[in-house]
Amino acid sequence: MQKVKKAIIPAAGLGTRFLPATKAMPKEMLPIVDKPTIQYIVDEAIASGIEDIIIVTGKGKRSIEDHFDNNLELETNLEEKGKLDLLEKVRHSSNVDIHYIRQKEPKGLGHAVWCARKFVGNEPFAVLLGDDIVQSDTPGLKQLMDQYEETHASVIGVQTVPDDETHRYGIIKPATKTGRRYAVDTFVEKPAKGTAPSNLAIMGRYVLTPEIFRFLDKQETGAGGEIQLTDAIQQLNQIQRVFAYDFEGKRYDVGEKLGFITTTIEFALQNEEIRKQLLDFMADKVTEQLGPK
Ligand code: UTP
Repeated sequence: MQKVKKAIIPAAGLGTRFLPATKAMPKEMLPIVDKPTIQYIVDEAIASGIEDIIIVTGKGKRSIEDHFDNNLELETNLEEKGKLDLLEKVRHSSNVDIHYIRQKEPKGLGHAVWCARKFVGNEPFAVLLGDDIVQSDTPGLKQLMDQYEETHASVIGVQTVPDDETHRYGIIKPATKTGRRYAVDTFVEKPAKGTAPSNLAIMGRYVLTPEIFRFLDKQETGAGGEIQLTDAIQQLNQIQRVFAYDFEGKRYDVGEKLGFITTTIEFALQNEEIRKQLLDFMADKVTEQLGPK
């Protein structure tokens, strides 16, 4: 059996939910406290044992490449000033190679993954999306890779979402359940409100077999007029087993404004440097806005 060693991180979307911030700056570079969201994703891939990452970029995404490059001038400056903790933060892991490919037009997530087909070749591979940051004892992607080792089949990460949010996600219709793993009857992208077959939503972590490219090659459009990865997974499930895995850990939705802000607050509260002052500030704000308890 081939091991999962490569990961695709699609980052070529327009980020319209964060306009105007994302007009000239990639949404993936927006920071949660002091780290760009895409670095959390790269760190998860490295912690999961991925050896090669390809980031699918597009127009206006150069700063992603600069971020993962060495910056010798900055490093020398920090070294000379003895700022070794910061130096540590700007240096990147040498355990992984990061490659780039451009998606010439944002035709959808399925198309972005398809753009990396030659990098993947005939191996199983991972896909991680920057809209979800996962904090867990075992990295989210590693949990799926472990499932792949057991099943030799594609595994899609899912978690439960409330009824009023199912229309925003790819949703599965489960068939049978073994522990946290589901055999899947159907995958449906963004079902209309009230029609979702379950509350199990796809959360931006995938391990896929290369046969997925047979379906992505067709370039069929789906929900929102985009080439959807979920639609190709649904077709893949007709020719080989595709499992869903309800991975452990807390998921932070940073792909929309409110989730981005609450995640920033949660991560800031985990940062000892600012935790106390932030709590005092929030306590004052609550009293100011809602009156004393
Ligand atoms: P999203 O739909 O969340 O990202 O796609 P978006 O399109 O950038 O954001 P909004 O909806 O306009 O605010 C999920 C992931 O897929 C990538 C995005 O960069 C994001 O990481 N993506 C999406 C592509 O790489 N190419 C596409 O054509 C579409």
